[in-house]
Order: sequence, then C-alpha cells, then structure tokens
Amino acid sequence: MSKKRALVTGAGGFIGHHLVKYLVKKDYWVHGVDIKAPEYEASAADKFTVCDLRLAENCRAVIGGVDEVYHLAADMGGIGYISGSHAEISINNTLINAHMIHAAREAKIPRFLFSSSACVYPMYLQHEPDVTPLKEEDAFPAEPEEGYGLEKLFMEKLCQYFHEDYGIETRSVRFHNVYGPLGTYDGGREKAPAAICRKVAGVKDGDTIEIWGDGKQTRSFMYIDDCVEGIYRIMQSDHAAPLNLGTDELVSVDQLVDIVAGVAGKTVVKTHDVSKPQGVRGRNSDNSRLRSVLGWEPKTLLRDGLVSTYAWIEACVSQDAERGAPPATPAIAAE
Ligand code: NAD
Ligand code: GDD
Repeated sequence: MSKKRALVTGAGGFIGHHLVKYLVKKDYWVHGVDIKAPEYEASAADKFTVCDLRLAENCRAVIGGVDEVYHLAADMGGIGYISGSHAEISINNTLINAHMIHAAREAKIPRFLFSSSACVYPMYLQHEPDVTPLKEEDAFPAEPEEGYGLEKLFMEKLCQYFHEDYGIETRSVRFHNVYGPLGTYDGGREKAPAAICRKVAGVKDGDTIEIWGDGKQTRSFMYIDDCVEGIYRIMQSDHAAPLNLGTDELVSVDQLVDIVAGVAGKTVVKTHDVSKPQGVRGRNSDNSRLRSVLGWEPKTLLRDGLVSTYAWIEACVSQDAERGAPPATPAIAAE
C-alpha cells in the first residue's frame, strides 16, 4: 500500500516542525514548505521547499500530489509581536491563506486543515482573570483580537464556504497558547512560557526578572506533543466546524513564573511592568466539544511540559552566552 502524502506549510516553524516529525513517524510522505528552514534542527520532511506563500504561483507550485494539507504558515508571534504590527500581519496572512485555500481547491485536495487561534474569541468575554472557558459558539457576535485574530476568523469562514460550496473537507483548529522545546524563545516573537523560561534561565538564584503586566492575567497553555496529536486527530475526524485545541488548566502569569522557577530550582523576584503588552485579561479553553468529537483532549500538565521546555531553553541560553550573544533581557542583580 502506498504511503499517505501530506503537505505541511509553516514546516520551518515551531508547530509545523514538530508536526512533520509526527507525520513521518506515522509513515506519511511529507512535503514541508516555509519561507525559511527550521532554526534549531534539520527538518524530518521527505522534501522541503523554501518559498514565499504570499505568492499565488508558489502556493500552486507546492500543493499538488498530496492527500492532506496541514496549513500552518503564518506571520505570528506572542502578544508583544501581534499587538504591534496589525497592518503587516493582516496583509501577510490574508495573502498566504487566500492563495493556499484557492490553490487547494484548484488542485482538488480532499482535506485541508487551517491553524486558527483562540485570538478569534471576542475581547468582551475576556475582561476577567477568572474567565469562563470559551466555547466554539462564543466567537460570534465577533470582537476578535485586532489584525491577527480578525484575519483568523475570516479564514475560518473561508474554510466553511469552501467546504459548503466545493466539498473540501476543511478543518479549523483554534490553538490555545502552545509551548515546548524547539519554539521561539527570543527575538520578539516569543510567547510567555518561552520568554519566562529564558528569563529564569538567564539569572542567578535570588535575582529579579521582569514580568509583563501585573502577573494576575490568566491563560491555559498546551504542550507541543498534545498539539500535534490533536491536529492529526482533528484532521482524521469528520468535524468541519471550528474546534478548540488547548488545555483547561487555567493559571495566572505569576503562577506560570513560579512553576518555571520551581522546575529550574531557583527563587526569582518578580517585577511587574504594566506598560508592556498584556492582551486579554483572562483566556481558557472549554474542551466539551473537543471531548465529544474526539473522545480525547490534551493531557500534559503544565509543570510536566515545562520540564523539557525549560531544559531545552536553558541549554540554548547557555550556548548563546558561550557564543557571546547579548542576553535578550539583561539580568537585574540581587541586592
Ligand atoms: P511559527 O512562527 O513558529 O511558525 C509559522 C511559520 O510560518 C514560520 O516558520 C514562518 O517562517 C512561516 N511563514 C511566515 N510567513 C510565511 C510566508 N510568507 N511563506 C511561507 N512561510 C511563512 O509559529 P507556530 O507557533 O508554529 O504557529 C503555527 C500556526 O499556528 C500559525 O498559523 C499560528 O498562527 C497558529 N497558532 C499558534 C499558536 C501558538 O501558541 N504557537 C497559537 C494559536 C495559533
Ligand atoms: N510574550 C511575553 N513575554 N508575554 C509575557 C511576558 C514576557 O516576557 N511576561 C508576561 N507576559 C504575559 C503577557 O503580557 C500576556 O498577558 C501573557 O503573558 C501571555 O502572553 P503571550 O504568550 O505572548 O500571548 P497571548 O496568550 O496573549 O496570545 C498568544 O496566544 C494566542 C493563542 O492562545 C499569542 O501567541 C497569539 O498569537 C496566539 O494566537
């Protein structure tokens, strides 16, 4: 029997790189595409193409001959990045997404999975730290995150329309803050778990680190292994409507810092900077529909996932220091 064939866009990025490895282990033939190669280790893809998916001709060139498209390519980052570049992110992702789904239809691709985001949910439901977990139907009436979230919401609708009008089996997966080894940990696009691991790794026991906001804002965080397994299970399901993929283990940012410090075996003093980007006050995933569709949900506890994540980031921070790279955030020495 011939192997199943998959295209993974964004295969040079965090989730795409892990997904390629997962699919290869499942005996898929995988074509990875990205505007850059993976930064931290070689891709496991059978074929890897470097090209710019904002261009329609590149989308058409890479899409043929596969059974499944896992479309993860996007201009994305943590809240510091997505709240600062609305025009650029919106135009880049609009071009990438419209051209990819159009190319998929032209090439008669049967299955197309889109990586959406919890950023599609309305801001008016996320003003409190003890937030009610977000259900899929809460996305409307809409008031998504400016730029990045609004574009994700529109692409979900394009997936719905292409499913209804052209019969493509589309999937829209709303990821809730994903972390793990081999994820961006510096440079400005990093999300809170990686940023906090980097900050803790970069200081001595008893030193001070800077936390954005007052530390009372809340999130749930999903470990990368659960994320790629969830992506695969959702692709194989028959559920075309948007679906949350996250955990419902709600923690404050200060609690996240304490867990990282505990994993590192350090005590850190927190200073809070409320002038930094904070995003919504509270966000959690309601996994009822995920459980009923898949009979499965992410199960890695935050502390467990942070053990391997911290170990990897700590090693990167040490290597950066040996190479003489300047620390992303200078340490504040203990009194
Ligand atoms: P990432 O930035 O590591 O990966 C995205 C990849 O897309 C990058 O490697 C980037 O080079 C590539 N890309 C950007 N522009 C491109 C272009 N013009 N042509 C080709 N490739 C291009 O991010 P990630 O965390 O792996 O996220 C993957 C997907 O999941 C994205 O669609 C993102 O919006 C979505 N998502 C991620 C999270 C999260 O917490 N990581 C949360 C919600 C949604
Ligand atoms: N990035 C970052 N860096 N965030 C920090 C830091 C820090 O050093 N210190 C505290 N935080 C706080 C932020 O202020 C925010 O309140 C919270 O940690 C989470 O920040 P991020 O992880 O950067 O982003 P987010 O959860 O608001 O949004 C992310 O997740 C979405 C999906 O759930 C983004 O990556 C979005 O792009 C993504 O779609």
